[in-house]
Amino acid sequence: MTSNQLGSRTIFIIIIAGVALILGGLVISQVTPLIFPVQASAESLQIDNLFRIALVIGGAIFLLVQGLLIYSIVRFRARAGDTSDGINLHGNATLEIVWTAIPAVIVLVLTVLSYQVWVSIQSVKDDEMTVKVTGARFAWSFAYEVPDPRDTSQKLTVNSKELHTYVGRPMKLEMVTQDVIHSFWVPAFRMKQDVMPGRTTTVRFTPIQTEETYPVRYPIKCAELCGSGHGEMVNWLVVHKDEADYMAWFNQQLDLVLNPPEDPVARGRQVLASGAYPCAGCHVLADLGWAGLTGPSLNGVGDRAATVRASATGLSPEEYLDRSIYYPNEYIVPGFGAGLMPQFQANDPQGANYMSLDDHFAIVAYLCTQTSTGESACDLDRLRSLVFGNS
Ligand code: CUA
Repeated sequence: MTSNQLGSRTIFIIIIAGVALILGGLVISQVTPLIFPVQASAESLQIDNLFRIALVIGGAIFLLVQGLLIYSIVRFRARAGDTSDGINLHGNATLEIVWTAIPAVIVLVLTVLSYQVWVSIQSVKDDEMTVKVTGARFAWSFAYEVPDPRDTSQKLTVNSKELHTYVGRPMKLEMVTQDVIHSFWVPAFRMKQDVMPGRTTTVRFTPIQTEETYPVRYPIKCAELCGSGHGEMVNWLVVHKDEADYMAWFNQQLDLVLNPPEDPVARGRQVLASGAYPCAGCHVLADLGWAGLTGPSLNGVGDRAATVRASATGLSPEEYLDRSIYYPNEYIVPGFGAGLMPQFQANDPQGANYMSLDDHFAIVAYLCTQTSTGESACDLDRLRSLVFGNS
């Protein structure tokens, strides 16, 4: 065999191997995404396409490396009785240049493509709806700021423990955390963004139609280990079929805010049920269907405030429950960890842990009624003066 024949045979093998590797990469890029969740946002299509390109390249490299490995194991295995050393190989400059240059080009191409997708996703969309997202151990909460229908120069906040939107509506989320780093992850939307103390992060998405019947609920998870309740930090993204359907939901919530119950107990129940505060992420409370595991149960908390907690702390039930919200670390229920509950404050409305005095009063008034009889364990007038001062 002449060197010329050997050369053309080698080139032929390289071409065949190259085609096989690219076809293998294409197969991997088509098969792997079958295990992904549904693509429920416009961005998920862009991200999956980008991922497919990376999969073709990664799949071909995987097959190349594994193929050479298996070939070498068979071809260069030690034969029976062969105890000699292998050949002594020195560096190969051409090979070094080739296997540095090819990955460099691949990384550069992927960087440019990724950057284009990122810029396209984060570009400001016409008519985007902004929702404020708050992460806290261990729940997400959502706040819609809209003009107050009674005085449109004023803003009004509608809270929700679920993120509602509708098909085709561009969304912008402004996200903060009350405590540690969390990661807002909606697998069906291919959307994942950290929330960090002292910063507001943003993410944009537009839901697209995936189902026949609406509304559709997609899980929102926390993807950053944030404490013992991390695995329970799941809320829902609810997509309505159109604006009218969404507005029907929104107007119900708006009505609750515009016409709050006079009775502070009913108001407190409504505030807690709205998800304005992340309490459900940690506490059990049968009346509201909460099943958190990390904090003490709130079932019958009024009874305990009047008995065991009163003797442990020397506080009246209204004092005990009042202080438990603003100063949760002052008294830790036996068996539970210190420093987990957010420290709420009433001074800075822009602060992440803000809880207004009105909300605070109503929430405590409601918790006071968590007794076996349903009667309040507290003196509401005394509570009112504790919260608002003796005016
Ligand atoms: Cu929040 Cu994990």
